[in-house]
Amino acid sequence: MNLAALNAVAEKMVAPGRGILAADESTGTIKKRFDAIGVENTEQNRRDYRELMFRAKDAMSYVSGVILYDETIWQNAADGTPLVDLLNAADVVPGIKVDEGVQPLPGFPNETITAGLDNLATRLVKYYERGARFAKWRAVIDTGSGIPTPGAVKANAHALARYAALCQAHQIVPIVEPEILMDGDHDIARCDEATRFVLHTVFDELYEQRVALEGIVLKPNMVISGKQSPVQASVQQVAERTVAVLKEIVPSAVPGIAYLSGGQTDEQATAHLDAMNRIGGFPWKMTFSYGRALQAAPQKAWSGKAENTRAAQAAFTHRARMNSLASLGQWESELEKTV
Ligand code: 13P
Repeated sequence: MNLAALNAVAEKMVAPGRGILAADESTGTIKKRFDAIGVENTEQNRRDYRELMFRAKDAMSYVSGVILYDETIWQNAADGTPLVDLLNAADVVPGIKVDEGVQPLPGFPNETITAGLDNLATRLVKYYERGARFAKWRAVIDTGSGIPTPGAVKANAHALARYAALCQAHQIVPIVEPEILMDGDHDIARCDEATRFVLHTVFDELYEQRVALEGIVLKPNMVISGKQSPVQASVQQVAERTVAVLKEIVPSAVPGIAYLSGGQTDEQATAHLDAMNRIGGFPWKMTFSYGRALQAAPQKAWSGKAENTRAAQAAFTHRARMNSLASLGQWESELEKTV
């Protein structure tokens, strides 16, 4: 493992004013997104949609890296250029989702474990050859009556650490993503407590598996109220609590934190990131690794029609620019009107 090279990639992923586009929806997940805009879920439509984003030059200037799905990393653009080459030409680091989704964890009702460690080493070799320089693995933690349990959190943290160590051994930067879901009526204090517990456990496991923290990017949830909670914390409360939890737990050797949007609205995800960067006083970069919060607007504008390509690219550029400003603590809600 060449840690200096891993660190250079991780630093590039969180470079000032740039963040990550999570375009790694599985075929089943992108179907849900396409259903919402009346687009048939064919391989060509998936390719056309992602090519549209990767060719949006202005938007990509705010994007440091793109997380691809297995199908996409092997796909070519309509003119035969590998999609990976489009990213490299835009100075964007190609990344790959390597987990294989969640499965029920036996003995732990309503809790899951992320699959994909078997054969991961073999797959990493192929992905590196194709150009991937970072990877993503998502552990999913739900909160509810009696969950998360220590056993399930430990199993998920252990899998994350095993994945991270394997990535580094193959010269690929692991995005370590423990996601506490926003679903539910829990308040922000419950999310705070669960996030602390999960992050402490994850960093213990990373230590035990000898993962070099200089060569990872952490992708956490924000500390936020449950979606169905009657009491919704303010932007400032979310920012303050998230920064406080991360400052307590995440070592300064970690180059950067790139948040998931997790079902927040586009503007909420931007406002929260901006408020955290305005607080400042932490040792790592804080940026975005958004899926839905970057793509909802372009998907709607595109709606599967080639003649809407420009409008979709403009919508994508706007969201990418807003999040770029937020990663610098320079976003203003007034700018949302400057589409
Ligand atoms: P969202 O921003 O839509 O939560 O997606 C980010 C991601 O990559 C989840 O794994």
